[in-house]
Amino acid sequence: MADTRKPAQDFTLRIRRYDPESGEAPTWDQHTIKLEPHRSVLEGILQAKAKFDGSIGIRCSCRAAICGSCGVRINGQPGLACHTHLDKALATAKDGVIEVEPMGNMPIIKDLIVDMDAVHWKKVQRVTPWLLADDENMPEREHVVPRESMIDVTQSMACIQCGACVSDCLSMEVDPLFVGPAALAKAYRFVGDPRDTQHFERLKDLSEDPHGIFDCTHCFKCIEACPKGVAPMNQIMRLRRRASADHGIEDRNNGVRHEHAFTTLVRQGGLLHEAELLPRSYGGDSWFGKFHPNAGQELIDSLPVITKALLRRKVTPGAALKPHRIPKEDLKSIQRISDVIEARDERIELNLYITGYDEETEGAKEPNVAAVAGGGEDGAMPSAPGADPAGRTKE
Ligand code: SF4
Ligand code: SF4
Ligand code: FES
Repeated sequence: MADTRKPAQDFTLRIRRYDPESGEAPTWDQHTIKLEPHRSVLEGILQAKAKFDGSIGIRCSCRAAICGSCGVRINGQPGLACHTHLDKALATAKDGVIEVEPMGNMPIIKDLIVDMDAVHWKKVQRVTPWLLADDENMPEREHVVPRESMIDVTQSMACIQCGACVSDCLSMEVDPLFVGPAALAKAYRFVGDPRDTQHFERLKDLSEDPHGIFDCTHCFKCIEACPKGVAPMNQIMRLRRRASADHGIEDRNNGVRHEHAFTTLVRQGGLLHEAELLPRSYGGDSWFGKFHPNAGQELIDSLPVITKALLRRKVTPGAALKPHRIPKEDLKSIQRISDVIEARDERIELNLYITGYDEETEGAKEPNVAAVAGGGEDGAMPSAPGADPAGRTKE
């Protein structure tokens, strides 16, 4: 078969350099490397290191999207340097220069190496990342775990702990204490495992922590960042539903009521009415509830943010105080969708990682192994058919 690979060509890499111990400000270095376009950004960095500057700091090990050590930002987007082809990186580069920076939300050790212990691993430890089994009631032989339960946790088990989601988590940017996407996805791995005996305790702990599951703002950044389709935000949503719907846990920071306020406002008006959101999150749907003392306190605490939003014209006083209006027909459609969802007996789970699996069909296929292995673009790690790297399925 003819070799269709393209010949080696020049690529320009712009690498952010920073050594905190030097006391100098960060700088940018530019190097031109020569490689085939299907080779990875990591190979490009290693060539620059071998040829031009041995002091460039980059962490890597497997070079096959398995170990999670080469997480960086390429043209502003988080990803694995070993898993990003040079031609793909060039396609998103400004002025033909591929820009490589360290991941965000973590302190820099040197150049592209960030301190994963200081943030990422500390947060993973926070969620007790091991099985808490009932030692006294151990079965005589091995635990037999239902196949569905294992499939249910496969998505969170696919995490390679690269920290790309942590790097781009918007909530963590404003609240560094937020437990964060990777650690919470790990928490679901045990909350979804029937052998673990402390589901309630785990969920209560993560609900009541003001930096726990209700600190996520649903920005989708972690879903976009994850090279393994773990979709951490989805796992966080599942933790929330298990906590509130299955275990009746009320979180101290009002997350459940806040979510309820969101959905009722959208149902009533078609769009969010921001000025109503805060009082309803505390006082519920009643008129009297608006005067809940905690709503007043929260309003006072939020004044700096509100002022900033007004100054930057993200909100105008008129738009904030008056409910937004949408055409009646559109509102009816929204309410119809809401009715359909509310009328469902069963909850639709968000685990879309496994595809091609249908247990109702006689002779059903086993779960798609490619999907379990995680998405890939270099042939080494096959993508799930019908699933994009974010774990969303395509029709
Ligand atoms: S969806 Fe939540 S956890 Fe994910 S990046 Fe956004 S704030 Fe962070
Ligand atoms: S959830 Fe995805 S992005 Fe986050 S650490 Fe795991 S593999 Fe990396
Ligand atoms: S070097 Fe292992 S994931 Fe990139």
